[in-house]
Amino acid sequence: RSWKDMLLFRKNKKKPTTTVHTKVDFDHLPRHVAIIMDGNGRWAKKRGMPRTAGHAAGAETFRTIATYCKDIGLDYLTVYAFSTENWKRPQEEVGAIMGLLRKYLHEAIQEMAQDHIKLQFFGDLTSLDPELYQLCQETRKISEGYDGFQVNVCLNYGGRDEIVRAARKFAQDCVEGKAKPEELTETSFANDLYSAGIPDPELIIRPSGEIRTSNFLLWQSAYSEYYFTDVLWPDFSPDELLNAIASYQGRSRRFGGV
Ligand code: IPE
Ligand code: IPE
Ligand code: MG
Repeated sequence: RSWKDMLLFRKNKKKPTTTVHTKVDFDHLPRHVAIIMDGNGRWAKKRGMPRTAGHAAGAETFRTIATYCKDIGLDYLTVYAFSTENWKRPQEEVGAIMGLLRKYLHEAIQEMAQDHIKLQFFGDLTSLDPELYQLCQETRKISEGYDGFQVNVCLNYGGRDEIVRAARKFAQDCVEGKAKPEELTETSFANDLYSAGIPDPELIIRPSGEIRTSNFLLWQSAYSEYYFTDVLWPDFSPDELLNAIASYQGRSRRFGGV
């Protein structure tokens, strides 16, 4: 970034307004935060509403948090929206989630020229319905023209599936004589994952009280710091995000060293 851009960038950063903000060092934010957007169903159940209402509320929270991440100056936000295992849910719930994704992408495409939020997708999009697949492709294409803050939406995503795909591709390259087994390295393997070229997330947040990864970013999370909170995703707020970042900033990351 040029100095002029840097100044503009800092000016545009959200000013600390509450006590939560004072706990965060805004000059040393993580570059990449990942979130498992969990707890929509329980949020709705607590209110006597259908689970789909929880997903709609969760989609709103996603907008708020993505915009906030951009405003404070993160480089990447990766969100878990639909897992390879979520197809096990009742057909009407899956349909409602897909409907919300279509709605969100239609709106995002309209707003992209203003927002300049770069959207990418991690996951096998080919098994999505054709309209949703097209919307993803269109969003991806528009995004190619932007740099800056990027959101990766994990859609029909599974960490194991991602690793198996990369392994299969390498095996195929070997069969075709384009590669040799001894040439495979962690770096070359990572280049065949959905996250190719993107730094690993420093911080992974899971709301809703579950303490597990549920197949999220298995490779990329090798040295990520985890933050768990009982707050359900639709209730997650920028202050919750700052609490997570403050917790992350208070930790000592050793990467196996001393
Ligand atoms: C996360 O919320 C959204 C998706 C998995 C698509 P859930 O629907 O899992 O909500 P809970 O965990 O049942 O409360
Ligand atoms: C993980 O949540 C997937 C997403 C949030 C998209 P789940 O609700 O599917 O995870 P489990 O079933 O509690 O492990
Ligand atoms: Mg859940």
